[in-house]
Amino acid sequence: MKATARAQPNIALIKYWGKRDVDRNLPAVGSISITLADLSTTMSVEFDASLRNDTLSVNDRDKPAMLPRVSACLDNVAGKQREAARVISSGNFPIAAGLASSASAFAALVVAADAATGAGLDTASLASLAGAASGSAARSLYGGYAELTNAGDDVAVRSLRSADEWPLSVVVAITATGPKAVGSTEAMEISRKTSPFYSRWVEQQELDLAEARAAIAERDFGKLASVAEHNCLKMHSVMWGSRPPVVYWNSATLACMQTIRALQARGVAVFFTIDAGPQLKAVCEPADEAQVREALTATEAVQDVLVSGLGKGAAQVADG
Ligand code: DP6
Repeated sequence: MKATARAQPNIALIKYWGKRDVDRNLPAVGSISITLADLSTTMSVEFDASLRNDTLSVNDRDKPAMLPRVSACLDNVAGKQREAARVISSGNFPIAAGLASSASAFAALVVAADAATGAGLDTASLASLAGAASGSAARSLYGGYAELTNAGDDVAVRSLRSADEWPLSVVVAITATGPKAVGSTEAMEISRKTSPFYSRWVEQQELDLAEARAAIAERDFGKLASVAEHNCLKMHSVMWGSRPPVVYWNSATLACMQTIRALQARGVAVFFTIDAGPQLKAVCEPADEAQVREALTATEAVQDVLVSGLGKGAAQVADG
């Protein structure tokens, strides 16, 4: 009744922002992401009849505040009549800082919980269960380039390309640590209810998805760069136009954007994307990784830089 799984965070190039059904956590738009290789969350789930309640430890600390969302996800995988579970999570990157820690956490959680019950659900069902807990988590069930589509009453995720077929590098510039002021779940609802740009955002998403899908099929870096930066800045414009405004950037985020523009002006194949946090993620060809890393490390107020290739989807690992 115990199993362990590992999942990697994913970075959206065409973003999920907004929900069409809040109760079931269904997204308003499709999205396309890349799954990382070198940052990961390892999660073990043990169902134990002697426990009175679920327990959760994250990086060796009890985290009761996060427990309700974890327990609800376990109910969805194992059924409400399940035994209580001991959940132990550990990650090798900062959580709650706009680095999609919830994506890798819930992807690993559904895989571990499914293995612990012995149910053996398929990847599509696990992706749907992970997405019900956190929309972006559905994509971390798949490696490389993944697309999430709204399918009737559910979501459907598929792999557009494996990491090996088009290996790109991701350089993450950490510009602030610590939890963000507004969680993405809450911020999406503020956008939906108040931003005058929200409906146009939803309407236009299919165009951006089609362009990114084609760029990935053709392995056209310039095309992917152009549509990914456009989609990212459009999503943040929706947030900036909401009331209250939601601004995740700090001055170092902008300094990092200028660093990317300077690299692009020198002919380096690199582009940026920014999620619900102040970190900037630069995507580049592996040959340019060292140069991008150096330039972001030298950018004022950047605290740390993480580097990763693209990797595989969530999977069970041997219990340790
Ligand atoms: C900006 O998946 O964290 O990173 O479904 O409410 O848990 P919930 O939201 P979450 O939102 C991710 C938002 C984003 C864009 C993306 O990853 O597509």
